[in-house]
Amino acid sequence: MNEKISLKGQTAVVTGGSRGIGEAVALRLASLGANIAVIYANNDDAANKVCEKCKNDYNVDAKAYRLDVSDFNAVKETVSEIKKDFNTVHILINNAGITRDNLLAMMKEDDFDAVLNTNLKGAFNMIRHTSGMFIRNHGGCIVNISSVAALLGNAGQCNYSASKAGLIGLTKSVARELASKNVRCNAIAPGFIATDMTVDQENNPLLERIPLGRMGSTEDVADAVEYLVSASYVTGEVLKVDGGIAM
Ligand code: NAI
Repeated sequence: MNEKISLKGQTAVVTGGSRGIGEAVALRLASLGANIAVIYANNDDAANKVCEKCKNDYNVDAKAYRLDVSDFNAVKETVSEIKKDFNTVHILINNAGITRDNLLAMMKEDDFDAVLNTNLKGAFNMIRHTSGMFIRNHGGCIVNISSVAALLGNAGQCNYSASKAGLIGLTKSVARELASKNVRCNAIAPGFIATDMTVDQENNPLLERIPLGRMGSTEDVADAVEYLVSASYVTGEVLKVDGGIAM
């Protein structure tokens, strides 16, 4: 890559920024100079630690907001709070996500709804309430964290795959709708990334099918976010970060 981009003076909102992929992305964007709003579900200490690291290591402003992204009105309130604290938002990373795996025959209605509400509706809620700022700023960048499960399907994950495939449709529609306002919207489809979410996947036979022969790291996904944030002519794209598993 060429020289590092500078995001100095910009504000990035990272949902699910308290750990795993979201933490790595928040720290990467901070390292490039962006101020960071970390949205998280329940671990106050973890979210505050990420903010402290952003401030101490990269000398940017950072604040944590406890929020359930699936709650339309709560998202509206938190986005207003972020606007008050940071003045505006330039970058939105929709990373918050959950799994509630089960075979179709055993999947409860609540497992389906919870996953769709967090992974898909949560991203819609965030985009819905931040897009006015992007339009007023004549530019913005949205990155939605999907999954290879959206592209390949996965037995035991019909709720998760559907939510992540929905995110790709959302990404392309938003990209088309807001392109004339210079707002870009892209998705990343990670494969197996080593985080708390995949801690029990170490013996998954699918791992042997990864052409690059290893699980990905959270830094691998942060690299892709950095690229998409800097790629001013790329919109509506789905970038796989999967060691080749879905090619
Ligand atoms: P994780 O479980 O380590 O972290 C999830 C984050 O989302 C946490 O910060 C949590 O507080 C937040 N969160 C969950 N529900 C929320 C809600 N309702 N409102 C606000 N925040 C909420 O997950 P990980 O592994 O870091 O994954 C991050 C994203 O990447 C997820 O969307 C996941 O589906 C996706 N992904 C992960 C892969 C992996 O192999 N780890 C592969 C493909 C996609």
